[in-house]
Parts: sequence; C-alpha cells; structure tokens
Amino acid sequence: MDLRPMEEATIYDRLTKEGLGRLIHRFYDLVHQHPLLREIFPEDLTETREKQFAFMSGFFGGPPLYMEKYGHPRLRMRHLKFPIGEGEARAWLACMEQALKDTVPDQKLREDIFAALARTAVHMINQ
Ligand code: HEM
Repeated sequence: MDLRPMEEATIYDRLTKEGLGRLIHRFYDLVHQHPLLREIFPEDLTETREKQFAFMSGFFGGPPLYMEKYGHPRLRMRHLKFPIGEGEARAWLACMEQALKDTVPDQKLREDIFAALARTAVHMINQ
C-alpha cells in the first residue's frame, strides 16, 4: 500500500487546457474594450493571446510552452517599454477578475488563479 500523500493537483490540472483557452480568450476581449488598456496593447491581439496561453500554461504548472518557443520570459523586462502604473495594473486585474467570473465556475479555483496573477501584476508596475 502506498501511503505517500497524493501530489497536489496544479492550477493547470484543475483549469484544464480548454479552460485556460477560454479564460485567455475572454480576458483579451475585455482588455481590447478597456479604455486604459487599449491604449497600450496592439490592435490585433492574436499573437498576444497565443503568447499568453503559452506563458500561463507553464506558469500554472502545465507544459512550459513559452520557454520552449521563446526562451526565458523575463516578464518585467518585456513590460518596461509599456507605461504601467497602478491604474493599468488594477485595470489588467479587473479584466482578469471578470474573465474568471465569466469562464471558471469553481470559486476556489478562481481565487487561486487571481491570487497568483495579482502577485505577478504588482511586479510589472514601472511608473
Ligand atoms: C500589470 C498589468 C499588465 C499590463 C498593463 C500588461 C501589458 C502588456 C502588454 C502591453 C504586452 C504586449 C502585448 C503585445 O505586444 O503583444 C504584454 C505582454 C505580455 N504580458 Fe503583460 N501586462 C500586465 C501584466 C502581466 C502579467 C501579470 C503577466 C503574467 C502573469 C503578463 C504576461 C505577459 C506575457 C507572457 C506577454 C507576452 C510577452 C511577449 O511578448 O513574449 N502580463 N503585457
């Protein structure tokens, strides 16, 4: 009998690949409509969606697709060319909160995802 504790399921396991796809899709639709965020994001978000999917796949404990394709994310450095103040970070998180409500039925999972992203968003503030 194996008495070792079960490995904890990752956020990626709980969300699933399809769930992550739905979340990111909804998120960038909201970003695209947001008066503050639409100023700094490109008009065509196709590539942004693809890169974010690749990044979050690994970030949440699934396949490290971003690393495989683009190398180390260096997230803070990649965001330096965009003016990100507290307002932009709050707006980004507000879009994420709404996208979570719209696509992830499990409340505990929503909270775990939001907490992980909120910690990271703070580090992107550069103004
Ligand atoms: C704090 C508010 C944030 C703002 C305003 C913001 C804004 C942006 C912008 C303008 C881009 C460039 C889009 C493009 O040119 O395609 C970008 C790319 C990206 N962001 Fe953010 N971001 C924020 C937070 C985050 C967070 C929290 C994460 C990760 C958890 C993240 C992950 C990424 C990734 C992976 C990319 C693609 C990088 C690449 O070009 O390879 N961002 N972000």
